[in-house]
Amino acid sequence: MAATIKDVARESGVHISTVSRALNNGYGVNPQTRELVVAVADRLQYRPNRVARGLVTGRSHSLALILSDIRNPFFAEVARGAEDAAWSSGCDLVLCNSDLNGGKQMKYVQSLVEKRVDGILMNSVAALSRAQQDELAGCGVPVVLLNRPVSSRRFSIVCADNEAGGAMAARYLLSLGHRRVAHLTGPRQHGNLTDRTRGFVRVMASAKGAEEPVILHGDFNFSGGLELARKLMERPAGITAIFAANDVMAFGVARALLDRGMRIPQDISLVGFDNIDFASVMYPPLTTIHQPKYEMGRAAVEILLRLARDKEKPTPEQRILGVELIERQSCRRLS
Ligand code: RIB
Repeated sequence: MAATIKDVARESGVHISTVSRALNNGYGVNPQTRELVVAVADRLQYRPNRVARGLVTGRSHSLALILSDIRNPFFAEVARGAEDAAWSSGCDLVLCNSDLNGGKQMKYVQSLVEKRVDGILMNSVAALSRAQQDELAGCGVPVVLLNRPVSSRRFSIVCADNEAGGAMAARYLLSLGHRRVAHLTGPRQHGNLTDRTRGFVRVMASAKGAEEPVILHGDFNFSGGLELARKLMERPAGITAIFAANDVMAFGVARALLDRGMRIPQDISLVGFDNIDFASVMYPPLTTIHQPKYEMGRAAVEILLRLARDKEKPTPEQRILGVELIERQSCRRLS
């Protein structure tokens, strides 16, 4: 049986409150008593009950991160940044995958709030109804949304400049002479992806001689990229470059092209988005738009902890982080 605070008090011959103050560097405990209590606690291998302590302090030192799917390496890096920031503030981070299912997201929120987490990071409210968004905003703990822009100013968000990233991809392809391009992307309701599309289309539309990009929507994962690239190849030829909405989709595109005996970049150029580690390992190494993933996770926890401290007047914060083109070998200059 695990030792309790009562056992430590009995063995040390002091009151429970003295044990608590001695172990938490509280006031009014003389050094010898503190030393004795610490030694007894060590000998009995006493571990404080943080749940009980949380009831007194109102803090559990646990944060939660609700992501759509950690299998996308983009989220693994965001999660790592969030965990490192949580760790250096003495907090644990609980991970939940929601598959972007609104019902599942809200079930997690309710359960985490009941477990008294100090705050919640969540990667989107796109799948939530208005009523669910209201419930989330009033759930009683601070919430920071990651990765998705939201029009509502009541939520704090941390997100990359997706529109600028889409525009960068277009400018780069135009600079290499591409005028007939396709953009393969995820579902329309994902604000971060539609921002990428908007930036891409805007720049393409303003370029002399460029055709309107072919845009196909599907799943924003490896199979989505594969399927959409196959669909694209059923259309009349002539596309010289593809902008995939994220790197895992780009991997699916590469696979579809390879299956067709097409070479990157000789037959078609390819640009991704995210700059996950595997992008540089792929052959040929993928040109992509870098998102500061780790920094996004860190920033989100910093904001969350600030909101948790400012209980009286927490001011939501919208932080948009810059993106960068990483040029590798998956695009060619048209002669
Ligand atoms: O929703 C998943 C995508 O959004 C990731 O691949 C990354 O691009 C993120 O911003």
